[in-house]
Amino acid sequence: MSKRQDYIDDLHQRVEGWIFPENLRMVELLAGFQDRNGVTGGVCEIGVHHGRFFIALHNAVGASETSVAVDVFEDQSSNIDGSGLGNLSTFQANLNRFATAPNSVRIHKADSLSLTPPDLSAITGGRRIRLFSIDGGHTAEHTVHDFRLAMAVTRTDGVIIVDDFHNPHWPGVNIGINRLFTLDTPSFAPFGYMRDKLLFTSLTWQRRYAAFLQESWRDCPAYKMVSMFGYDVVTAMAW
Ligand SMILES: C[S@@+](CC[C@H](N)C(=O)[O-])C[C@H]1O[C@@H](n2cnc3c(N)ncnc32)[C@H](O)[C@@H]1O
Repeated sequence: MSKRQDYIDDLHQRVEGWIFPENLRMVELLAGFQDRNGVTGGVCEIGVHHGRFFIALHNAVGASETSVAVDVFEDQSSNIDGSGLGNLSTFQANLNRFATAPNSVRIHKADSLSLTPPDLSAITGGRRIRLFSIDGGHTAEHTVHDFRLAMAVTRTDGVIIVDDFHNPHWPGVNIGINRLFTLDTPSFAPFGYMRDKLLFTSLTWQRRYAAFLQESWRDCPAYKMVSMFGYDVVTAMAW
């Protein structure tokens, strides 16, 4: 078994975090679709905590692609709503144990509210991201800011993953996304949802990703097509 598969099947449980196994398989599914469509460019997560989801994102892409980890880490005064508790040395130790190419990881200690698209582009050397996970501050304001940042640096054929969209403990995420799609006109649109993670891609690719998930998740428990902000979104519970 490969290090990548071992992490999905079992080893992720040794990394503290709140991610379900289905979400790790979901990352593999999306990365496979991207590989077949020639989509490259690296990954980024805002809010890595100890790295449970980040390592799955990183392992799903090639060693030649950059993986960017953003967190306030020990500067918890910037974690104003107390979501998770970043810890740099634990994160680094987990990378060394479970990441397939730890040398391609760029760790950026920052409050995401202080970050601009040029800051992130400087870290990736100008390459756009193909999988961007938003899981840092969970207020509506953090969600809107981080989503705008993600749209600016994610490829049009890439995916933005927003955590805790339906989690009753973190209503700010839902409020932020609703505010953005009601008051603004984002160029990204939702296409899939599984276990609290809402998936977005550009308008150009929305139908292609939705069709792919329809095909892939058709036999999953609680499979259902729903409409969100006027887009067809594929929802499922597990597989
Ligand atoms: C829910 S945890 C992330 C869980 C993680 N994605 C996982 O796989 O388990 C939230 C993380 O966001 C970080 N965080 C909170 N506010 C932030 C901010 N304003 N900017 C960057 N990171 C932030 C916290 O330190 C914490 O590590």
